[in-house]
Amino acid sequence: MIQNSLIQSPVLRRRSIRKYIDRPIEREAIKMLLQAGMAAPSAEDERPWHFIVINDSSMRNLIPFIHPDMHILKNAPALILVCGDLTRQKASGFWIQDCSASTENILIEAQLLNMGAVWLGIYPIEGRIDGFRQFFQIPEHIIPFSIIAIGYPGEYKEPADRYDESRVHYQKW
Ligand SMILES: Cc1cc2nc3c(=O)[nH]c(=O)nc-3n(C[C@H](O)[C@H](O)[C@H](O)COP(=O)(O)O)c2cc1C
Repeated sequence: MIQNSLIQSPVLRRRSIRKYIDRPIEREAIKMLLQAGMAAPSAEDERPWHFIVINDSSMRNLIPFIHPDMHILKNAPALILVCGDLTRQKASGFWIQDCSASTENILIEAQLLNMGAVWLGIYPIEGRIDGFRQFFQIPEHIIPFSIIAIGYPGEYKEPADRYDESRVHYQKW
């Protein structure tokens, strides 16, 4: 059963892909990725996200050292910077889960489109938040949350079967 779902499920097949071939991501595909990001569930349906798409290689090369994995950011044909809008939340703090759900949706959509992607963390590391805020001229009420590097895969990784029965508790702990 598990073997079957590992082959079929895009969720179970998803792995972090950090190497890409030299092929741009089509505009229509970028839109599909963003649609997936915006389809995520969010607390009170506030959808507190904004996205900065960086798909121009000359722009990418200008990005200074603002993340320890800059080599991935420089090599990926497209980057999507997911940001959270603090003014769009009735229930305080839930923007973090909302932006996580959005980020994960984009990763799964990339998998479905036969692309490879990796989630690079920004929030809550202050130095990274400041670096992205400054370079991308992001206003104070918007928090750079994660950056997703996306491209057609230049590496293959086996699906990871991480099912662990010891983490599952039925009815009570
Ligand atoms: C919140 C978060 C932050 C992450 N930050 C980084 C990162 O900065 N650099 C990186 O190479 N991978 C990063 N990753 C990817 C993880 O390393 C990766 O998901 C994990 O090792 C499991 O591997 P898999 O995605 O191939 O299943 C991050 C993932 C998450 C969820």
